[in-house]
Amino acid sequence: MPIHRPSPFWLGLGLVALASGSALAQEGDPEAGAKVFNKCRACHVVDAAQNRVGPSLNGVFGRPAGTVEGFKYSNAMKDSGVVCSEETIAAYIADPKGYVPGNRMAFPGLKTQEEVTDLVAYLKTAAQ
Ligand code: HEC
Repeated sequence: MPIHRPSPFWLGLGLVALASGSALAQEGDPEAGAKVFNKCRACHVVDAAQNRVGPSLNGVFGRPAGTVEGFKYSNAMKDSGVVCSEETIAAYIADPKGYVPGNRMAFPGLKTQEEVTDLVAYLKTAAQ
């Protein structure tokens, strides 16, 4: 009897499928995200350095939280030590109060993971 072992070919194919599957799950749809951003527009501008009720989100990726010039942040946000990235923004907008306790953003959080990934995809295209 030959010993049955999974061939490296099938193993490789499985890994590729897994990797592309998770990439898709994380990528999000920027067009759907633009609609989700309607929930943020009342307070945030993303395509210009303009502060409103909330700080401008222009150039937000890679920026330490609480550092937009001319915006009066809460101490909680200034002292959060968070650097804005895909991961931290996703965590924050899913649960603002839970992620940065004491921060002043009056937003309850997005309900679904899909809204979160779509919104982050949109911000990545719009916040440059
Ligand atoms: C009711 C107004 C309001 C809404 C709606 C709102 N925000 Fe905010 N946001 C704020 C305020 C105010 C702050 C500053 C909070 C602080 O200083 O504690 C803030 C902070 C932030 C920050 C941190 C920015 C920085 O420079 O530190 C991000 C990122 C952010 N908001 C994203 C979003 C996104 C994305 C949405 C929509 C899902 C959203 N906000 C909805 C008012 C709002």
